[in-house]
Amino acid sequence: MMSSHSTRRTFFAVVATLAFGLAPATAQDARRAYVPAAPDTVRAVAAEHGMVVAQEKISAQIGADVLRSGGNAVDAAVATGFAMAVTYPRAGNIGGGGFMVIHSADRNEDVTIDYRETAPAATTPQIFLGADGKPDIAKSRDSALGVGVPGTVAGLALALEKYGSGQFTLAQLLAPAIALARDGFVVSDDMADTMPGWHRRLARWPSSARIFSRPDGRPIGEGDRLVQGDLAETLSAIAAQGPRGFYEGPVAEKLAKAVTDAGGIMTPADLKAYQAVIRAPVRGTYRGYDVVSMPLPSSGGVVLVETLNILEGFQLTDLKQGTPASLHLLIEAMKRAYADRARYLGDPAFVNAPIETLTAKDYAAKLRSGISTERATPSKELVSAASSPHEGSNTTHFSVVDSRGNAVSNTYTLNFSYGVGLVADGTGVLLNNELDDFTAAVGASNAYGLVGYEANLPGPGKRPLSSMSPTIVLKDGKPVLVTGSPGGSRIISTVLQVIVDVLDYKMDVAAAVAAPRLHHQWLPDEVRVEAGFPNDVLGELKAMGHTIVEPMGQTSANSIVVTPNGPLGAPDPRTRGAEAAGQ
Ligand code: GLY
Repeated sequence: MMSSHSTRRTFFAVVATLAFGLAPATAQDARRAYVPAAPDTVRAVAAEHGMVVAQEKISAQIGADVLRSGGNAVDAAVATGFAMAVTYPRAGNIGGGGFMVIHSADRNEDVTIDYRETAPAATTPQIFLGADGKPDIAKSRDSALGVGVPGTVAGLALALEKYGSGQFTLAQLLAPAIALARDGFVVSDDMADTMPGWHRRLARWPSSARIFSRPDGRPIGEGDRLVQGDLAETLSAIAAQGPRGFYEGPVAEKLAKAVTDAGGIMTPADLKAYQAVIRAPVRGTYRGYDVVSMPLPSSGGVVLVETLNILEGFQLTDLKQGTPASLHLLIEAMKRAYADRARYLGDPAFVNAPIETLTAKDYAAKLRSGISTERATPSKELVSAASSPHEGSNTTHFSVVDSRGNAVSNTYTLNFSYGVGLVADGTGVLLNNELDDFTAAVGASNAYGLVGYEANLPGPGKRPLSSMSPTIVLKDGKPVLVTGSPGGSRIISTVLQVIVDVLDYKMDVAAAVAAPRLHHQWLPDEVRVEAGFPNDVLGELKAMGHTIVEPMGQTSANSIVVTPNGPLGAPDPRTRGAEAAGQ
């Protein structure tokens, strides 16, 4: 049985977190930093059978309705994913891409769907360099050159075809999204909060301004009805024709025209060539649990498993959650795994990364032997490289379980909030700027400050390296934790901390999700921390040699634990609007 609505309202009422913009280190972002919920208000939402935990409540409820109507977790995830393309346009999308990890109890299989965007065929390794031969970040972040060929439609359709229950057609699962786009929905406080930061970027293009502005040109606000007629038509074309309705014909023509008119290089042929890929997951073990996560072109699974392997050799439970000694080990493990991310990882179709080594227990033991329990290891002693800037992100994660033991962990994104800001005229499709996740030049960094090398240079048809880490933790072959997060480079460390807090520290899933988080990504050599860590803890970390920097950009780990009594959902309290919808 679900906990009462009022309990959930209390849960959300105690938080004061807003979405964030492009420059987290500003005073405005500091004001928006996470204010931890009081521990006695943090409660998981219980359900008897199945559950969808997503960042936007209308879409979470749509997924739960599908479960209630006999659908499985994949059916529900597909319905939620398409609905969020309408109701959560900052990150829910059909103009971007993502990853889905599936535990199919029906087929006794763990599998992933890679629907990451690809670079257009005309992409060159130098595409994001300026005339001076140096990275020109405006090209990859603010221009249509940064638009990757969208993968979401192909990915969700492939997931449904291969792993859906067979009880729902794509058209049936698209119907709620089409109705929401056609008839509109009331703009939430959470969406309205994003407009001051993002409307100007959207309004660079009349096709985007028309959707996200009131008739007088001001940004849409809380309580307005957002109608997206063109998007309804595009979704209807997909319902009628399947992915071909998006990747071929009039919609594809319009998408390509919008990109080329805006100075990009995506063609109808690029869209027609797009393929989502079924991949075997990255697997690891941690203290008797199986960890199933996303393989390349996401770095998420590799970095997560490498970090967990390092930590497994330490008795974290003896150190207590949130203590300097425990946090120090987390930081040191992250630092080493993120250094390997930079050095080795890229699209597996283009690079031969040493995945077996990086995820091996003996390799972790070697790295662990270099960790002092008392002193921070300077990043430059791990590998030398350049320093990097910080910027913000938006992506969104949802977790789904059903009563048959199936689970879906899905993270998808436009990269920045609202992507590049360009709605392709006549389609309602907001386009991504995912190609900024490439490394513009050897040693350069992307918007998250992630340094990269040859493995992640741009190339035709290539998928940029990601950090998205949808993850399912199993015990004896059954899901016990479904988790993931938005947050660019901070995704992996967020997922890591949720897993450690649940498995090592036996925290209730809601407390684990709400607990303040920190992040180290090798370069820059600093620990980003959320509000909520006691000053004496931060003081001790500094005394160990860590450079502590506040605030940390937003992450949001909408998670589910599966108990013998049913699922317990934890909508992350960091942003308004998240929902655990149970069945
Ligand atoms: N665009 C963020 C990521 O894929 O990691």
